[in-house]
Amino acid sequence: MSCVMNFRSNAGFCLFRHFSSVRRFQRTHIEEISTLIFRDRCREFKKVHFDLGTGDAKFIYRLAKKDPETLFVGIDSNADSMGHIAWKVKSKVSRGGLAVQNLELLHMPVEEIPDEFSNLADCVTINYPWGSLLRRITEPDLKMAKTISKISRIASQVHLHLNFTLYSNKTLIHRLKVQDLSERAALEAVKRCFSRYQLYLVEQSLEDSSRTRTTWGQHLALSSGRQVLTLRFLKE
Ligand SMILES: C[S@@+](CC[C@H](N)C(=O)[O-])C[C@H]1O[C@@H](n2cnc3c(N)ncnc32)[C@H](O)[C@@H]1O
Repeated sequence: MSCVMNFRSNAGFCLFRHFSSVRRFQRTHIEEISTLIFRDRCREFKKVHFDLGTGDAKFIYRLAKKDPETLFVGIDSNADSMGHIAWKVKSKVSRGGLAVQNLELLHMPVEEIPDEFSNLADCVTINYPWGSLLRRITEPDLKMAKTISKISRIASQVHLHLNFTLYSNKTLIHRLKVQDLSERAALEAVKRCFSRYQLYLVEQSLEDSSRTRTTWGQHLALSSGRQVLTLRFLKE
């Protein structure tokens, strides 16, 4: 069933002027809620998994269905892509909704993740980042590594999947203004940047197709000759 909605936030109506707030998807709109309330919601669950640059959120929706004891939080700067799953998750099953209580979607650039989210995540995934998210991770940007480390608890894992085929297209790299990670020094700089914030590399692999079947992962798997670079970090 297709669903076209215009998500508007109640930006002018904020009850939490004295606290920072986040923009959370409801069924047909985005509401602004206090970061403290959101933090309490996270604490209701045994574990919390953040998916940064979640896109259409289908990946974390599938995970949420399998693991009801973990809260899955999708964050993306593009509200339109998350709208359909948000509508489904918040709708009654009798109206075509999905029966999951453990999925939250936030409209927010990763750069703006608030300090109140510190030490919430047991797992962080970043699948096939693009745009400013890719630029920041591969620059590498200390602030971004700090943010990822900030939200991660000790012993949590950070999984990063990158479309490595991109680096064979030098014109595209130039246009996107991203570092060329096929150059060893650039990749080492990314790992060093993460390690500055206690995120230590525990796995690196380059594979011909995608293990992680997100919507973008599936696109890559369908095109021939695609390579995916996986970096897995552990917070110590
Ligand atoms: C290629 S898509 C991948 C989506 C999803 N992870 C997947 O694998 O299907 C990249 C996503 O990153 C999001 N993105 C880019 N820059 C971002 C930022 N600074 N903060 C949050 N999301 C960002 C885009 O809106 C887009 O949804």
